[in-house]
Amino acid sequence: MTATPDLSTPPEIGGIGHSVLRQEDDRLIEGQGDFLDDLVLPGMLHMAIHRSPVAHARIRGIDTDAASAVEGVVAVVTGELMAAHNLAWMPTLSGDTQAVLATDKVRYQGQEVAAVLATDPYIAADAAGLIEVDYEMLPAVTGPQQSLSADAPVIRDEKEGQTDNLVYTWSSGDQAATDAAFAGAAKVVSLETFYPRSHPAPLETCGIVADVNSVTGQATVYLTSQAPHAHRTLFALVAGLPEQKIRIISPDIGGGFGNKVPIYPGYVVATAASLLLGTPVKWIESRSDNLISTGFGRDYHMRGELALDSDGRILALRADVLSDQGAFYSDAQPSNFRAGLFHVVTGSYDFPAAHVTCKGAFTNKAPGGVAYRCSFRITEASYLIERLVQNAAYEIGMDPAEFRLLNFIREDQFPYTTPTGFTYDSGDYHTAMRKAMDEVGYQELRATQATAREEGRLIGIGIAHFTEAVGAGPSRTYDIAGLKMFDSAELRVHPTGKAILKLGVKTQGQGHETTFAQIVASELGIPVTDIKVVHGDTDNTPYGLGTYASRSTPTSGAATSMVSRKLADKARKIAAHLLEAAEADIDLAAGVFSVRGTPDRSVTIQDVAFAAYTNMPEGLEHGLEGSSYYDPPNLTFPYGSYIVVVEVDAETGVWKVDRMVALDDCGVRINPMIVEGQIHGGLTEGFAKSSMQWITFDDDGNCIGSNFMDYLVPTAWETPRFELLETCVPSPHHPIGAKGVGESATVGSPAAYVNAVIDALAHLGVRNIDMPVLPDRVWDAIESAL
Ligand code: CDP
Repeated sequence: MTATPDLSTPPEIGGIGHSVLRQEDDRLIEGQGDFLDDLVLPGMLHMAIHRSPVAHARIRGIDTDAASAVEGVVAVVTGELMAAHNLAWMPTLSGDTQAVLATDKVRYQGQEVAAVLATDPYIAADAAGLIEVDYEMLPAVTGPQQSLSADAPVIRDEKEGQTDNLVYTWSSGDQAATDAAFAGAAKVVSLETFYPRSHPAPLETCGIVADVNSVTGQATVYLTSQAPHAHRTLFALVAGLPEQKIRIISPDIGGGFGNKVPIYPGYVVATAASLLLGTPVKWIESRSDNLISTGFGRDYHMRGELALDSDGRILALRADVLSDQGAFYSDAQPSNFRAGLFHVVTGSYDFPAAHVTCKGAFTNKAPGGVAYRCSFRITEASYLIERLVQNAAYEIGMDPAEFRLLNFIREDQFPYTTPTGFTYDSGDYHTAMRKAMDEVGYQELRATQATAREEGRLIGIGIAHFTEAVGAGPSRTYDIAGLKMFDSAELRVHPTGKAILKLGVKTQGQGHETTFAQIVASELGIPVTDIKVVHGDTDNTPYGLGTYASRSTPTSGAATSMVSRKLADKARKIAAHLLEAAEADIDLAAGVFSVRGTPDRSVTIQDVAFAAYTNMPEGLEHGLEGSSYYDPPNLTFPYGSYIVVVEVDAETGVWKVDRMVALDDCGVRINPMIVEGQIHGGLTEGFAKSSMQWITFDDDGNCIGSNFMDYLVPTAWETPRFELLETCVPSPHHPIGAKGVGESATVGSPAAYVNAVIDALAHLGVRNIDMPVLPDRVWDAIESAL
């Protein structure tokens, strides 16, 4: 990698570090967005899905006569028909198989059983309701503990060799070293906790418009996809269509948060129906369909143990996870890591030893476990370690902030290799946490808390200091379904100096059309407003693995820098030719090429771009364009220090947030305003998780949380005010020093909120309240402590 050039730019160019207004917003705010449901194609049919009302049952028969007889219904599709085309089952991104339309059994409430194609979406929905399925009920398995017991019915009995409900076992770290450390520990602290099932609940649900031309075989698929290229390859493999004849267009997307990474049965049925009927087919999920059947997040039962020496130093960690995977293992974890990156559970602390074991279990629930607003399973890991260290501090009578400062990885230890195998690139945790503590007035707050307690008031101060692992690749370690996790960018500068940048990743609201243009603006000096960013169209963008797990900036953002530098190298040659100077004497700063020592001899990037098509030096190819594929040497490791102050009403258990100070370090910030927006979203999400949001199931497997009356999405009314801070320790291997940030706040904040409530009750001996921390749970904890 070449040395980092001077990337500073004036506001009119708007490169890295400027809070440039989002280039995409005028279009979106003025109703000119291009969302999937806006698309209407001639002759298009509408599809509705008939879903199972029960969680576990054998299918004795399906009666589609009444549905077929409805005027306007063109076809009714069942699993039997799909099976005739070898499409009743499909492979998942995690190497399992998933029923497209159920043939033998239904395995969760909301599972796809049949589909209706009609001329109108309402006719399709009404007809889907007329389908009668004869079910032979089977006992529902609604928890992973029950699922792994010897007498549990086998949910995946169609899988050859599957005699129980175990999905996987996986471990990381050094068991012997960990056992030895525990044997010699002065104190062992343990915590058993549950991160409940959550749903990404993007504003726009999932959908598809499939348009397969039966003559040419060209399949144009408009899809709410976070990973269009990977989805195209999997479509080619599943449907047997030649890949060059599949074009996936992912238009504007109203939020993804991991929910739009898996391939859903509706996509396969709609594409097959379009192929068979020779007409375009549209399928858009309802809100309840989305909440009840598509990729959920979390559902992790966790146990952690810390071994401490007599001075309060951490000696070792043991973590044991039981994951509820639902009926199909269909989340998209990297192939080598069955439980995602959960082994980042050692967090921000200097651990001599650690050992992590994970088990996944099938249950009669919708499949998922997606990288919901965080890299794979990192939120769960961060929650466990931050709850655990907080309790360890109480157990040895040390202040939780002091305990963390004592055990943090020190700045001089970076790059730091964790006992579970990550190499953290850079960080300064002590500075970050002290800055957050100063901002909140930590010492004074502790004094206020003590006085308040004497008056019977319960004030709590909760801390969470998290370290994330984002930006997957490197490709040697990370792949999904065999596809290596590099990413790409292609840049073309036209004769008038205007540019088109094409990305392998796909925005779902993160502002890539602005931030990625800012990278080019910094590297080449082309104003942001002169750069068009194209993404989400497989025919017109270079191959990439997509946007999720905060990977876009560390991968495709890096590729954008690299391709810009390739073009800068060529542009320097052209500038030397125009200025009749030696190439080695040409400097580039903010879009101006000048001869070193004589700055008045200069040409602009626009002059150079024109010359690339009109006045090239001999021996150089015409044009100013190129592409780069960036395979990062490591993940990046953003981190943050969050401090929450709450007051708990001991009579009612109601708690309210007084302060929320959030310090984030994501290295160099490309667009500080966009970064703050990302953090606000994550902090709100963390607040929702800790205070009000969960999905539960009754004993029969009925999903409670299948609408926004039961699954609460916070509004501005109840959301606390956030006070944001930052530090900046750049990533040493990223060309511009940026680390991902998209989901950091969701990773860090749930533990901070919960720790704050527990801190208010810690003197009573309360050590755990599971999320969401509802008033009755707080009240119960107080009751049982008294
Ligand atoms: O993969 P995803 O886009 O969700 O996450 P990300 O790469 O962490 O970026 C989220 C948004 O914040 C993008 O628009 C980034 O370009 C921007 N960002 C930034 O401006 N500076 C950073 N250091 C990190 C991200």
